[in-house]
Amino acid sequence: MQSTHEFIASQKDRFLAELLDLLRIPSISADPAYAGDVRKAAEWIAENLRNAGADHVRLEETPGYPIVYGEKMVDPAAPTVLVYGHYDVQPADPLELWDNPPFEPVIKDDVIYARGACDDKGQVFMHVKAFEAMCATGNLACNVKFMIEGEEEVGSDNLGNFVAANKELLKADVILISDTAIIANDIPSIDVGLRGLSYMEVEVQGPNRDLHSGVYGGAVANPINILCQMISSMHDEFNHITIPGFYDGVMEVSAADRAAMAQTPFDLEAYQKDLGIDTVYGEKGFTTLERASIRPTLDVNGIWGGYTGEGAKTVLPSKAFAKISMRLVPNQSSAEITRLFTDHFKSIAPKGVKVKVTAHHGGEGYLMPTDSIAFQAASDAMTTTFGKEPIPTRGGGSIPIVALFEKELGIKSILMGFGLDSDAIHSPNEHYGLFNFYKGIETIPHFFQNFADLSK
Ligand code: BES
Ligand code: MN
Ligand code: MN
Repeated sequence: MQSTHEFIASQKDRFLAELLDLLRIPSISADPAYAGDVRKAAEWIAENLRNAGADHVRLEETPGYPIVYGEKMVDPAAPTVLVYGHYDVQPADPLELWDNPPFEPVIKDDVIYARGACDDKGQVFMHVKAFEAMCATGNLACNVKFMIEGEEEVGSDNLGNFVAANKELLKADVILISDTAIIANDIPSIDVGLRGLSYMEVEVQGPNRDLHSGVYGGAVANPINILCQMISSMHDEFNHITIPGFYDGVMEVSAADRAAMAQTPFDLEAYQKDLGIDTVYGEKGFTTLERASIRPTLDVNGIWGGYTGEGAKTVLPSKAFAKISMRLVPNQSSAEITRLFTDHFKSIAPKGVKVKVTAHHGGEGYLMPTDSIAFQAASDAMTTTFGKEPIPTRGGGSIPIVALFEKELGIKSILMGFGLDSDAIHSPNEHYGLFNFYKGIETIPHFFQNFADLSK
């Protein structure tokens, strides 16, 4: 029998060509103008999954974008792995900052450049191809279910209902997700934590219309000036967040765990150079790695109002707006933080302005155990293919649905991602290394084999 490894090696070029086809579909879930393309990506994945050997492949319709479902049940006695990922991508703008059009993938120096190359089409597709290889060589040791959604980048609004309504269908022993990063190509790691999220939008209104900034300036509250003051007041001199009660739920990390984190390889110089900054910035008393993983944050994602066109227009605006996200750590409740933010933001508004606060999506953080057989299976799989044991790390990003999977289905997730933090996900020139793509395809079958063996 041909080995899975040999099969993969013989199909490398086709696997890559197929991924490039998928990357050509602009499946931007945030922008209704791309609705047809988002659906097209779902159909494309379904077709590819069917050809790979999955049964009962279908699009599960939702009020939003469909969920691609497919499965292969090989043995009722074998454990079942539920593979989750997303086929939708972030908007590509600002387009002018891309060296190549975001949906015309190019390969330069063994790196694929395209929106979604890493987050998450490239990583989802590794699973489809690893599955194909296991099926083709008769080496599939676990039952597999695929659940690939199209709304992750906009908050997975419809996946929660689908999961709650399909508990039987989604029964599994573990959820396997590749949508995170490793430390470096020669330093494998597994994310054991995710941050939660509360995403808010605020509006500050001053006068009932835009005014001449000379005639009225100085005598009327300028909502942009006020909004800036309100925003800056939400951090103190130590970069702590000043919203009362904000830290109440925060799970403090033990000195021992922090000491272990401090052993994680981290090149501050390279980090700064990659970002074009001469120094890092953040909460007093915490390292860069800690600030970006075990600590909650508050960041303005966008701010607008008044005149932003060509040249100068002397105007005192009527309204100012901002989108503000808070990254949360395990034990902070997204609903509670949303409430605290709303109350606080309203309470700090000075007389002379009216404020409106709306909540967008949110979700809870997650911590996964490292003493499970699923973690062992992933760790051993990476040890085999990287030649080095992966380091457990805590990531700063959010995949809110992971906490929900545990709550609704009672199933834990393993975040066996293969990206790099420097892959520019959500940014111009997003990319994914061929090394990472093929390493993922190579590693996944080991996970399946290890998980089956360890489950016996
Ligand atoms: N794949 C990312 C999350 C991620 C990236 C986790 C890197 C860990 C390391 C995911 O697609 C994402 O972007 N999630 C959003 C949250 C969502 C509610 C829009 C995020 O983190 O901003
Ligand atoms: Mn993702
Ligand atoms: Mn993303």
